[in-house]
Amino acid sequence: MINPLDLTGKTVMITGASKGIGRATAIYLSRLGARIAAVARDAEQLAKTLSLADSGNHHAFPFDLSDVEKIPAWMKEVAQATGPLYGLVHSAGVVFNRPLKVLSYKNIADMQRINVDAAILLTKGFKQTGVYEKEGSSIVYLSSTAALKGKPALAAYSATKGALISLARTLAVELAADHVRVNCLCPGLVRTQMAAELNDILPRENLDKLEDEYPLGIGSPEDVAYAAAFLLSPAARWITGTALVLDGGYTAA
Ligand SMILES: NC(=O)c1ccc[n+]([C@@H]2O[C@H](COP(=O)([O-])OP(=O)(O)OC[C@H]3O[C@@H](n4cnc5c(N)ncnc54)[C@H](OP(=O)(O)O)[C@@H]3O)[C@@H](O)[C@H]2O)c1
Repeated sequence: MINPLDLTGKTVMITGASKGIGRATAIYLSRLGARIAAVARDAEQLAKTLSLADSGNHHAFPFDLSDVEKIPAWMKEVAQATGPLYGLVHSAGVVFNRPLKVLSYKNIADMQRINVDAAILLTKGFKQTGVYEKEGSSIVYLSSTAALKGKPALAAYSATKGALISLARTLAVELAADHVRVNCLCPGLVRTQMAAELNDILPRENLDKLEDEYPLGIGSPEDVAYAAAFLLSPAARWITGTALVLDGGYTAA
């Protein structure tokens, strides 16, 4: 029996792999046979992610992505340790839920740096000779339904997630000749620490209202991992420049 999602022998770098969506993605990709290069700042939590993965030749690379200018040189070192990368999932992200009145420039710059600037530099790093697999490879950015549907207090975050959709479209065209596909995932609300922080600031009745907006309920990190696996896999070989919405019907309602 064939498995169209099979990633046996392929190395995938996952940023934000110390928790939430990045961790679930790393674990699921390992079950599909991928070798994981797990990235985040917290080395202990990265080790925990790898302990939950199916056995394989996985690596953890603790790194602070806010050092954006260092990313391309660092990725060369990563590829020397792992061999060429087949895939990249940029799941590391930062959100500040702040109404415009209290949104600081530092908040905006911090989100822009990790959500967007790091995505660009990671892709630039990926595209270096010897760092990526030349026969075909796949990049996935974690955008959000926040890029598609307005919500108060999320203006700057939404702008960073919208930028990722533009980035994927443009780089899909630029990198097609090199057989590198570039796509976005746009999840709605997913139960992770990031979502828990939103819970902390929303009054109970608002949270209930939020859940009501999801015909299939709020998502789990695994729901996003499955979609990431699809976009990475050879089954998606004709898909590039797209933004796949996974939101339990939130934007359809
Ligand atoms: N949860 C949702 O409802 C939801 C919905 C739509 C889209 N998304 C997007 O999905 C992605 C993952 O979200 P999540 O809910 O899994 O978030 P999360 O649980 O808060 O995890 C964020 C991850 O980003 C890493 N990270 C943050 N700053 C970093 C830095 N400077 N350098 C390296 N790594 C850094 C964190 O690792 P360390 O702290 O160890 O560095 C952590 O692994 C984000 O891009 C988010 O915007 C989330």
